[in-house]
Amino acid sequence: YRILVLNGPNLNMLGVREPAVYGAATLDNIITDLTEQAAAKSVELTHIQSNAEHELVTAIQQSLGKQDYILINPAAFTHTSVAIRDALLAVAIPFIEVHLSNVHARENFRRHSYLADIAKGVICGLGAKGYHYALDAAVTALQTTKQ
Ligand code: DQA
Repeated sequence: YRILVLNGPNLNMLGVREPAVYGAATLDNIITDLTEQAAAKSVELTHIQSNAEHELVTAIQQSLGKQDYILINPAAFTHTSVAIRDALLAVAIPFIEVHLSNVHARENFRRHSYLADIAKGVICGLGAKGYHYALDAAVTALQTTKQ
């Protein structure tokens, strides 16, 4: 299977950025672990981080016919982006929304997501492990739908 991992703005600063909220792991640490996990399951993992909304939209568009599942931490775009929602609807690739922090325990504006209602699932508040659980869930879903 082919799985695309997308990370939105400021996630390149993990490790440095508000460690009390987002943890000590860097994005490199997270992606290294995910790549190992993917290899063990014969999953081809592609990772893209961008601070730019249009780059995330383009990455989603280009995954049509190339990716079987998307894991996305849209970061701040979660709460603002109709464009990312529309791109995900356009390609109709199943996806899981991941957040490191518990967005429901923070400012009110973080409680609304433009993506959650069209996601297969949402994981938040479990830190870097959330990506691990999301990859596990995506592989299980793909294994039960295709043989
Ligand atoms: C985040 C939560 C968002 O509200 C925030 O804008 C982020 C990171 C998380 O992983 O907890 O940048 O998506």
